[in-house]
Amino acid sequence: MAKLTLKDVDLKNKTVLVRADFNVPQDANLNITDDTRIRSTIPTLKYILEHGAKKLVLMSHLGRPDGKPVAKYSLKPVAVRLKEFLGVDVLFLNDCVGDNIKPDIDKSKEKVVLLENLRYHAEEEANDANFSKQLASLADIFVNDAFGTAHRAHASTEGVTHFLKSCAGLLLEKEIKYLGDAVKDPQKPFVVILGGAKVSDKIGVIENLLPKCDAIIVGGGMAYTFLKAQGKQIGNSKLEKEKLDLARSILDQARQLKKEILLPVDNVIVDTIDANAKTEIVGENIPDGKIAVDIGPKTVKLFEEKLQTAKTIVWNGPMGIFEMDAFSKGTRELAEFIGGLKCISIIGGGDTAAAVAKFKLEDKMSHISTGGGASLEFLEGKNLPGIAALTER
Ligand code: 3PG
Repeated sequence: MAKLTLKDVDLKNKTVLVRADFNVPQDANLNITDDTRIRSTIPTLKYILEHGAKKLVLMSHLGRPDGKPVAKYSLKPVAVRLKEFLGVDVLFLNDCVGDNIKPDIDKSKEKVVLLENLRYHAEEEANDANFSKQLASLADIFVNDAFGTAHRAHASTEGVTHFLKSCAGLLLEKEIKYLGDAVKDPQKPFVVILGGAKVSDKIGVIENLLPKCDAIIVGGGMAYTFLKAQGKQIGNSKLEKEKLDLARSILDQARQLKKEILLPVDNVIVDTIDANAKTEIVGENIPDGKIAVDIGPKTVKLFEEKLQTAKTIVWNGPMGIFEMDAFSKGTRELAEFIGGLKCISIIGGGDTAAAVAKFKLEDKMSHISTGGGASLEFLEGKNLPGIAALTER
């Protein structure tokens, strides 16, 4: 890796400022409903504590409070979860900048300090230099472990690196390794699975990965714009009319590059999207008025045959409306199949990670990204500012 990593720096007696992505989902009572992002950062935090750091100062955003304090976006519940995972007391401070922050950190008996939501200040998203400097003044060294926010050029991801030696945390390093190898030097055959609602969300990934992969499997809502572009009937299934020409040109490009694009050959359909709706299975053509909500069994088989020989699989986007059990079979069966393969399986964040978690298959995958938008941008081949800004080795 071209950037400094935790293992390159001396942490002894240093105050270490860590940007984590603790943007975790919560229910109406502010209970954390998925703590994956907190758990994923723990190895970095333990490493820092075990290597003699004097103080560990943690900062993150939560939600989009738009530059002002909003109680429901407080990071306080995260402090409780951190204490459980780290097994040490965590001091929670009610702000991230201000005259009292540094003295409070310096005099705290707790080694670990969590600052309040960075986005309570508009300067964070504005990447304000003075705000970045104030954050930097809290510590001797900066560690970025927030892969989920690495696509944002904010004060705590980019700005702060102008004032402190800055290195990648263990999670960030792992994300860059798995996603970076897939993008730059994948073990072949390399098969990409794309799904989710919209073609428009995945164009950049298709353009970047089509020349590098051996095949792209397309499922989920976005598949129906491709099927329509091939002249199939799609009933009332999801269609992005303005992307039909683009879908045609992607199919042409794949033919020219001799890359396969696999589309559903059968589908689970309903009259209305409702968890209790009666389902039917039809072939490639979907009758008028019907909506496709999942891939059918023949499609699952077709996709599995392609995946069977893959050495690298990158999967971004579910095959159907997996959140509703009746429409989750295609996504579940594909996930189970991939989980049983001996290949490098990389799961993009967001919905695909949520699907794999729902089916309790996390341990079966080589890597599940903690970034939704960030993993998409990485797979598009973009330079993420939070990574680009770190100190060169
Ligand atoms: C995410 O959940 O994708 C990251 O935490 C970034 O959040 P944002 O989209 O609000 O910047």
